[in-house]
Amino acid sequence: MGKATQDLRNEHDAILHVLQILDKMMQTDNSEPDALLQYYGEVVYFLKIFADECHHGKEEDFLFKELVKKEIPDAGGPVGVMLHEHAQGREYIAQMSRSFDKNNIEEFNNAAVLYRDLLRQHIEKENNVLFMMADKVIDEQEQDLLFEQFEQHEENVIGHGVHEKLHAMIETWAKAFGV
Ligand SMILES: [Fe+2]
Ligand SMILES: [Fe+2]
Repeated sequence: MGKATQDLRNEHDAILHVLQILDKMMQTDNSEPDALLQYYGEVVYFLKIFADECHHGKEEDFLFKELVKKEIPDAGGPVGVMLHEHAQGREYIAQMSRSFDKNNIEEFNNAAVLYRDLLRQHIEKENNVLFMMADKVIDEQEQDLLFEQFEQHEENVIGHGVHEKLHAMIETWAKAFGV
C-alpha cells in the first residue's frame, strides 16, 4: 500500500471514530442542552477543518487529479461520484452549522444523521474500491510525492498547533462519551 493512500486511510479512521462519538452525543437525553451544544460546536469545527478542508482537500487537489491523469474516469466515473459526495457532505455540514447557530438540537441531529450515513458509505467506497485502484495505477515514487504534497497542504490549511488541538479534542470527547 502506498504512503499517500495509507495517510488517507489513517484519516478515515479518525473521522470514523468521531462519527462514533457523534452517535453517542446524539443519544444523550438533552437535559443539559448547553453542554451538548458546546460539543456540537466543536464537532462542526472538526468536520469543517479536518474532514473537509484537510482530508477532502488532499483527495480533491492531489489524489483525484493524479487518478484522472491515469485515466480513471472523472465525470460519470468513480472520481466524479466521490466529488459529488464531498459536495453533499459540505452541504450537510453547513446545515449542522446553521442549526448550531440557532441552538436547534433536533435540526442539528437530522443533518448529522445524513452526514454520518453519507460519510460512512463514502469512506467504505474509498477504502475498498478507489484506493485499491489508486494503489494499482500510482507507483511508489508517485505515492511518496503525493504524500509530500499532502503534508504541505496540511501545513497550509491546519498547521501544527491546530492539528494537535484537533486530536486533543477527539480524546476529550472519547473520554466524556466513553467511545
Ligand atoms: Fe473522499
Ligand atoms: Fe476520504
